[in-house]
Amino acid sequence: MNRIGLLTGGGDAPGLNGILEAACRVLLRSGHEVIGIRDGFEGIFNERTRSITAGDIENLHSQAGTFLGTSNKSGTAGREAEFLEKYKKLRLDGVIVAGGDGTFSGLKAFEKDVRMIGVPKTIDNDLSGTEITFGYDTACSVVADAVDALRATADAHRRIIVVEAMGRTAGWIALGGGMASYADVVLLPERPYDQIKLVEFVKARQAEGQRGLLIVASEGAHAKDGNASVAFNVAGAPQAERYGGFAWSLARFLESETGWEARHVVLGHLQRARQPTPTDRFLTLAMGVEAARMAMEGAWGQCTVYRSGTVMRAPITDLMGPARLVPPEHRWVKILQSLGSFV
Ligand code: F6P
Repeated sequence: MNRIGLLTGGGDAPGLNGILEAACRVLLRSGHEVIGIRDGFEGIFNERTRSITAGDIENLHSQAGTFLGTSNKSGTAGREAEFLEKYKKLRLDGVIVAGGDGTFSGLKAFEKDVRMIGVPKTIDNDLSGTEITFGYDTACSVVADAVDALRATADAHRRIIVVEAMGRTAGWIALGGGMASYADVVLLPERPYDQIKLVEFVKARQAEGQRGLLIVASEGAHAKDGNASVAFNVAGAPQAERYGGFAWSLARFLESETGWEARHVVLGHLQRARQPTPTDRFLTLAMGVEAARMAMEGAWGQCTVYRSGTVMRAPITDLMGPARLVPPEHRWVKILQSLGSFV
């Protein structure tokens, strides 16, 4: 019997509970002991853990959030010795970690000392090493549902509505959600837009008599000669900058340039709060089961990834590379352009 730790780190993503339920069920059925680490790295530093029973994880898979709690506020930088000392006190045979870039970059220093298995997680879908992360599909569905609903009020009032999606440097959520809702305009951080061309596009739609116009923009989108709009910083966080304000400023800009009345909606954490979609549930079920199998086989130093339509194993270092951004000429961009959208 092994003693396996479970940790969820970084911003929560719909599907985290599915990973926990699937992995725990496999491990507990095989007679292993499962120790849940609370609130990401904070649970190690503050020595907050709990033994997990079958009853704890029953039917968690359909709920957003994470049963263990998580944190995107504290990394391990400068506290490596303390982290290792406290981790060792847990007497774990190994740990399964579901996290994003902040979590895996924080674990880089412990590759040799901590036996771990990685599971890639982020609604932003920008983690290196995997083609898709769970939580992304659910986030796109929140954006698409919002745009579909907002069309009614935009048309009723003859308004532009700018919908701000999450995604600081990666525009995958705005792109996927914008495609799913046939948005008129999609603005991504990877494709800084030309303000003059955007105004021309909007004016052309106005001249055609279009009543409402829906724009989906990443929180990190910006004009060619501008910068992303940072709202504030979280001191000590692996990724300190928090974005905000872009949708508001774009709505004001377009209204003053075109005379077309404009409003904005920030979807924010609603994108992380919805029950996972079936697609995200399939992915987390497959990844949770695979991560547990890997722990039982002692396949440490590896991770689960999604590549070429299937869940497979890869070295955990694959998750530690630079963010996977939207290639500016990605085929999804071309699809939207063929539809007549501005992107
Ligand atoms: O990385 C996930 C993410 O949801 C980003 O899209 C967003 O910018 C950020 O986290 C928000 O962080 P917080 O939960 O600290 O506001």
